[in-house]
Amino acid sequence: MRIDIITVAPDLLKSPFEHSIIKRAIDKGIAEVHFHNLREYGLGNYRQLDDTQFGGGAGMVLMIEPIDSCISKLQAERNYDEIIYMTPDAKTLNQSTANTLSLKENIIILTGHYKGVDQRVRDKFITKEISIGDYVLTGGELAAAVLCDAVIRLIPGVLGDETSALTDSFQDNLLSPPVYTRPSNYKGMQVPEILLSGNFPKIEEWRSDKAYERTQKIRPDLLDQ
Ligand code: ADE
Repeated sequence: MRIDIITVAPDLLKSPFEHSIIKRAIDKGIAEVHFHNLREYGLGNYRQLDDTQFGGGAGMVLMIEPIDSCISKLQAERNYDEIIYMTPDAKTLNQSTANTLSLKENIIILTGHYKGVDQRVRDKFITKEISIGDYVLTGGELAAAVLCDAVIRLIPGVLGDETSALTDSFQDNLLSPPVYTRPSNYKGMQVPEILLSGNFPKIEEWRSDKAYERTQKIRPDLLDQ
């Protein structure tokens, strides 16, 4: 999978791709991530990227022209399956969207800043808009990093243990059950006996009950979906 990220702050974004599982996916060539500094497409001597809003109102808006130049250049080089805009005024990212995106070949992610982008960018270029939650960040960079992490780890071959992504929280609209490791008794806090029993069908049943219980308690909305 190839991901092209368009941003006004590439340095803010790079670090999450330089560690652990995501770095390994990139080193193995399973994922390719390219950063495009929107500033290079800015207008005039000052490389202008934003301007005030028509109709008045606080906050600057990213102009269409630099974004058009950057996206059009990329589109001339290859076909893209999705052009995604990270913004709080969109549907919230969930596991199902991450699963779907992990099967794509080429995607562009545009990150917003200031008051957002000119609506005509969204109308003309964007095929999918994603929020990472009902709160406002200073820009879309961290949101893009979250999306990339959620997606890249799902690409076949990225996780060593092939089953581990399938048993994540949310894969079946349930939160994960509790997990334990050694020691089995820590200062009187005992690991549930069933997990030490070696009875794997019973352990699976216990995990499934606990996942359901936890979901019911913390995220009952997931059970309605
Ligand atoms: N940009 C600013 N806030 C955001 C959010 N919550 N999700 C995605 N992009 C954003």
